[in-house]
Amino acid sequence: MSKQDATVANAEQIESWNGTTGVKWVANQDRLDRMLAPFSRALLDTAKVKTGEHVLDIGCGCGATTLDLARAAGTEGHVLGVDVSAPMVGRAQERAGAESSRAVFRIADASTYAFEPNAFDVLVSRFGVMFFDEPASAFANLHAALRETGRLAFVCWRGLGENPWVTVPLRAALAHIAPPEPSAPEAPGPFAFADRDRVTSILQHAGFHHVALTPFDAPLLIGSAGPEAVEDGLQQSMEIGPVSRLIANEAPDVRERVKDSIRNELAKYVTAKGLLLAGAVWIVTAEA
Ligand SMILES: C[S@@+](CC[C@H](N)C(=O)[O-])C[C@H]1O[C@@H](n2cnc3c(N)ncnc32)[C@H](O)[C@@H]1O
Repeated sequence: MSKQDATVANAEQIESWNGTTGVKWVANQDRLDRMLAPFSRALLDTAKVKTGEHVLDIGCGCGATTLDLARAAGTEGHVLGVDVSAPMVGRAQERAGAESSRAVFRIADASTYAFEPNAFDVLVSRFGVMFFDEPASAFANLHAALRETGRLAFVCWRGLGENPWVTVPLRAALAHIAPPEPSAPEAPGPFAFADRDRVTSILQHAGFHHVALTPFDAPLLIGSAGPEAVEDGLQQSMEIGPVSRLIANEAPDVRERVKDSIRNELAKYVTAKGLLLAGAVWIVTAEA
């Protein structure tokens, strides 16, 4: 899909998650799942999926949470993971096959897909709901797929300023590269749901009740424990996230200077458990 297809819902995000971003997520799937594990645990504890329940994992990516949910729902349950990214869904399907999971995956845009009405007991997402061009209509579509007794649980990032795992490497890079044009805080992207009131309003307008946002903080393992911690974290910062986008078109000498600065900054955060940087999310819950 090209950028000219601006009339297609979520065209830019679909292009990105089927292009370099999606391919990098697949290549770094183990590392990203390790990094996001504290949030998975918090999400699963919150969603409390029971045997036999029907569950939808929104923006399931490479399938880590979908596979966890399928284990919780058991042989009587049904777990569907949807995502716009063909490479990531491909990886999810491979993993499901390898562990004989009953999880089912579909390449689909969760904001417009014609889900069976009243089909799910639980809607879940680990960082997969902040990328909709039209979040109000996307959540209305998802609400229609939820049973009257159903519930919603997802995690999304709080503000950039509360997430040093992003700002520490980013500030180091910005010592060498002019900052990009600031995007609107509500533009689709990882931090689009940082504002509590905005999220509450989107969900309420979509028909959800008892909306609650609970702050949850956890350190992210950016680099593995041991002597390679800093180089591991550096590789991650250069490959995925805002720094990778910032340096994409920079000359090799600039990239080297950026690397040196990030390396120096990351070295300050090495612990016996590895390179840890703080992360801050909302755990969002609601009822149908
Ligand atoms: C930050 S990744 C998270 C992936 C996965 N949930 C995880 O935690 O590893 C965001 C995911 O949302 C997906 N996504 C973005 N827009 C979407 C949409 N409209 N419908 C379905 N998936 C979408 C992306 O393809 C990507 O896999």
